[in-house]
Amino acid sequence: MKEATTEILFPKAVIERRVEELATQISLDYAGKELLVVGVLNGAFVFMADLIRALDVPCTVDFVRMASFGAGSVSSGEVSIRKDLETPVAGRDLLVVEDIVDTGLTLSRLVEILRERCPASLKVCAFLDKWERRRVPFVADYVGFSIPDAFVVGYGLDYNEQFRFLPDVRVLKDIV
Ligand code: IMP
Repeated sequence: MKEATTEILFPKAVIERRVEELATQISLDYAGKELLVVGVLNGAFVFMADLIRALDVPCTVDFVRMASFGAGSVSSGEVSIRKDLETPVAGRDLLVVEDIVDTGLTLSRLVEILRERCPASLKVCAFLDKWERRRVPFVADYVGFSIPDAFVVGYGLDYNEQFRFLPDVRVLKDIV
């Protein structure tokens, strides 16, 4: 692994509290329903695992992988599905779970694709939101934390597939 400096932005305890709050809100909003929670691989898997275990409504899970963000930290603008869902979504209440909204390109394209499949409802829950960097208008229904324009890692988020295992969220200062 390359040397890197990181600075803690959200410690584990703060994340745990916020995930509980999000799950409480989502459980209220979907009371009496059963959710299909759609995780966007790879980054969302840690957040999604914590979120669904804090929910008070039953859910099933499935995953998509989008292609857009190659190695490094600059989005290409081209977004497509690389690994599709295995569950039919027509008539289901969908909650898409993503690690971070940055330019908004990935989620706006994914939502467009999923809406064409006629779910009963579709909402998006993003753990982090870097709203300053939007290139297309996109507003998530549930957001864990809004953050300034910085590259962050940990709690599922990576830089070149590294740092996902960190239990907290850190700002990546530099890579040597
Ligand atoms: P968007 O399409 O630009 O909104 O990019 C969304 C994807 O870019 C996320 O799912 C992440 O994989 C990646 N990404 C954007 N910002 C960061 C960051 O600060 N750290 C790690 N990954 C990021």
